[in-house]
Amino acid sequence: MGPATSRAPRPRAERGIRILSGPGAIGRLPTVLAELGSGGALVVTSAGTRTRMPLSDLLTGFEVRYWSDWSPNPSLDEALAAAALVDSLRPATIVGIGGASALDLAKLARCLPVAEAEARAALSQRPPQLRPERPPLLLAPTTAGPGAEVTRFAAVYVDGRKRSLDHEEVTADAVLLDPDLLRTCPREVLASCALDGLAQGVESLLALRATPASRRLATGALAGFVNLLDRLDGPPAGTLEDASRAGAAVGMAIDVSRTTAGHAFAYPLTAGFGVPHGLACALQLTWLLPLWHQRSRAAGARPDAGQRLADAAAALGVAGPQLLGAEFARRVEKAGFSSRLGSYGVERRDLNRIAEEALASERADNSPFPVGHAEAVGRMEGRL
Ligand SMILES: [Fe+2]
Repeated sequence: MGPATSRAPRPRAERGIRILSGPGAIGRLPTVLAELGSGGALVVTSAGTRTRMPLSDLLTGFEVRYWSDWSPNPSLDEALAAAALVDSLRPATIVGIGGASALDLAKLARCLPVAEAEARAALSQRPPQLRPERPPLLLAPTTAGPGAEVTRFAAVYVDGRKRSLDHEEVTADAVLLDPDLLRTCPREVLASCALDGLAQGVESLLALRATPASRRLATGALAGFVNLLDRLDGPPAGTLEDASRAGAAVGMAIDVSRTTAGHAFAYPLTAGFGVPHGLACALQLTWLLPLWHQRSRAAGARPDAGQRLADAAAALGVAGPQLLGAEFARRVEKAGFSSRLGSYGVERRDLNRIAEEALASERADNSPFPVGHAEAVGRMEGRL
């Protein structure tokens, strides 16, 4: 692979993300890639995406190396392999095309230190020490909901626990937001990603770190996911376009607010029981939202938290915040999944460990109300 063009990158905050959106936006891939850097490109994308998309046609004339070597919930070893590949190939640009795992691995390939000890440190430090030489990054999502195309963090499972590389320099330089790419996304993946978007929108509204601007983005995004979840079988072009924009909007919202205990309790379900991420978030919100609603009505509760729950209910089109948990269960079932934790192999004896792992996560501390270990176990037991 040819030498990368040397260009001193401006700080992330000055660069901003260049977003090209709309049907057919993926056709701009060669142009944007050429603008980002001359030389070879490393394309991080799954084998499935490569069979569904005419990537080799789009990238004719470019020196391209593909990397697809990861499992459904990428591990540290896989992220390190990607980082080592970038270190040896020295591509001029990195491209991530696919679902959240592909996009996050493209970010990790670019930023994660190559040495394991340094990589482990970077995944626990705030702010982390990134690799100094980072080629420009272009991302194109083929799902809508995770928002990974615009966030400054990348998830990876380290020793079975979810960790994040979290730094503004992790953010992509350019994003191609093409709703046509959602057409080839398998229905089950589209559904789980839309549930992720729905969960992230609601959690972002409720997060302690939310700002008025992030709440506006989250509220606006929720309608896009509601519409997509209502039309999962053969969604019309307008629905896919709205969902694609909603994905970027919710990503920008959580980039500021981060997520909450909903995500913290979801990660052990994904790591331990293979529940797809978005579905896992929605499942855990079926009991968390009623718990938070109950808290919001207690004497001395912060009035703004009650208002946020009411805002979330309005955005989801339900009659009141007392119905939010049931609404998530209904949405899960309507998307074609079971809303009971037991259906995924979770047993009573697993609940202590799930609660312990979740409550150790920094996401849990970003919740509108604290969640206790015993009450979490009790509520999850009620959802077996
Ligand atoms: Fe998520």
